[in-house]
Amino acid sequence: MNDLDNLVQSARAQFAQATTPQALENAKARFLGKQGALTERMKALATLAPDERKAQGAAINEAKAAIEAALQARRAELAEAELQRQLQAEALDVTLPGRQRGQGGLHPVTLTLQRIEAIFGSMGFEVADGPEIETDWFNFTALNTPADHPARSMHDTFYVEGGTPEAPLLLRTHTSPMQIRHAVQHVKRARAAAGDTGQGLWAGEMPEIRVIAPGRTYRVDSDATHSPMFHQCEGLWIGRDVSFKDLKVVFTAFCRAFFEDDELELRFRPSFFPFTEPSAEIDIRFTRGPLAGRWLEVAGSGQVHPNVVRNMGLDPEHFIGFAFGMGPDRLTMLRYGVGDLRLFFEGDLRFLAQFR
Ligand code: DAH
Repeated sequence: MNDLDNLVQSARAQFAQATTPQALENAKARFLGKQGALTERMKALATLAPDERKAQGAAINEAKAAIEAALQARRAELAEAELQRQLQAEALDVTLPGRQRGQGGLHPVTLTLQRIEAIFGSMGFEVADGPEIETDWFNFTALNTPADHPARSMHDTFYVEGGTPEAPLLLRTHTSPMQIRHAVQHVKRARAAAGDTGQGLWAGEMPEIRVIAPGRTYRVDSDATHSPMFHQCEGLWIGRDVSFKDLKVVFTAFCRAFFEDDELELRFRPSFFPFTEPSAEIDIRFTRGPLAGRWLEVAGSGQVHPNVVRNMGLDPEHFIGFAFGMGPDRLTMLRYGVGDLRLFFEGDLRFLAQFR
């Protein structure tokens, strides 16, 4: 084997050993660079006689072509290897399970409110919504609770800037102001429909007021069964001859539907509220399940006080009805067996996700 063949062999061997593009370029320089082995041989041509130079020149060119071909081949190999390495590194396992999007759900108290609305809706009740920042008038005075009434101290609340000394603003302590707000609008519409523009109390023809008003309420109170923000749902039914008997029928039907328990017992226990007379606390008793046998308070209620009927714009000689106010938070606790009210408002997904 002559010298040039050896050189080509050697170049092929060194290219094959180069495992990176950089090493390959270095190997190339050793043969084809300015001081490369092949270049040296080309320079040496000058010293040869013309005949020899021609033959040797042709041989060198052949060797050069062979080395360049080997170089290209190795470059392609390294590029392919690099591509494979990258593909390997970025490989996607399409058989892996997908990343799930967290599934949302309704808050347990929202589920209860929807349930309340559906059940009362089926009994012909409208759903009304109103402001959480209330005036003293709607929250207390219109509900037969004047400024010096001792019942106000049971509703210690959060006062809000922006009111006046005569008309302070506060976070509503109950949903009962909605009785007045809704009834006043209802009466106004009924009067307008009857073409009556008078100012006095109304005794004309009017569709019955049958409404519930769920929403957030506030009191300065915080423990396992009280939260400074909590929910209430007000109910009101006013007509010509709506009696305490109707309250019992309606509320019993509601509770039995809500708890899906036809044997659920109810007790109307005499009580006091300024805006009802007579008044009753409503207790329920399960006949089965973990809470069976105990009386549990779920609502306040009563026949709407004549002064309140008057503040609705209605003549209490002609209109009469009942109202109730219940705690959806408590209903939710009873329905799902939750022991601490605060769990509802802490936003802990481990708790909330259980109701999805
Ligand atoms: N507003 C009362 C409270 O928060 C609950 C209540 C009692 C509402 C009797 C009523 C009612 O409508 O008739 O304690």
